[in-house]
Amino acid sequence: MLQIGQRVVFLESCESTNDVAMELARAGCEHGTIVIANAQTRGKGRLGRRWESYEGNVALSIVVRPNLDIKLSQRLVVASAYAAVLALKQTGICASIKWPNDIFVQPEGSKFIAKFGNFRKIGGILLELVGTQDKIDAAVIGIGINLVAPPQKTEDIPQMYFLDELGVTADKEVFVDFLLEALESILPLVENDSDYTKLHHDYISSSMLIGKEVTVDLGDRAVRGIVEDISLDGALGIQHEGKRELVYFGDVYLCKN
Ligand code: BTN
Repeated sequence: MLQIGQRVVFLESCESTNDVAMELARAGCEHGTIVIANAQTRGKGRLGRRWESYEGNVALSIVVRPNLDIKLSQRLVVASAYAAVLALKQTGICASIKWPNDIFVQPEGSKFIAKFGNFRKIGGILLELVGTQDKIDAAVIGIGINLVAPPQKTEDIPQMYFLDELGVTADKEVFVDFLLEALESILPLVENDSDYTKLHHDYISSSMLIGKEVTVDLGDRAVRGIVEDISLDGALGIQHEGKRELVYFGDVYLCKN
């Protein structure tokens, strides 16, 4: 892969950096093109949710053109989530990943008991693809991290936090630099099975769910059990009364003990 950030499109405000990046991707822009906005007014989250972003927060989308079978596209989410956690760590913030794509922090001395224990969601990743049936032509990786302000609270957004209110501060420019560096070194690992196996191992080490009791809302039913692992193809492995279930999508909640 070539360099991440070789072309940067900076916008004061836009509806969604992912939408702008998708347009550029369809028009054939080069791998590594970044769209970054100070404010995002109709940002998109996973499962059709909204993700506004105000000045000071990170809202950026990266166009990549990996040599990757479309069935393995989830690898890009794993790589990006891990890169975000690494960049936060370099900025001095200890963060974890909540499968599949959420970035959480656990503020010291936090007294909240909510559905995520003491963990607070501060960011997430949204992957969109341009491609044919089996080959990715381009992927847009949207990354939102709330440094100073939460996204607008609407009913369909699970409770969201921002670093500032958790008593943690991070310099946006420093964080974005670390993030791009991390993506530059981590994204190419998705193209090779043995590199990806190592990356997947690191992703699991940064997961906040392993060994925890969870409920996964699948829409039509819920699965409850202990998270054993996350499979190489991206499923959450849940153990319940001696039975193992693999879950490929859904909202996960930690059970209170
Ligand atoms: C989620 O947790 O649901 C994913 C949130 C992803 C938000 C980012 S912000 C930058 C990019 N542009 C968008 O419209 N969404 C992503």
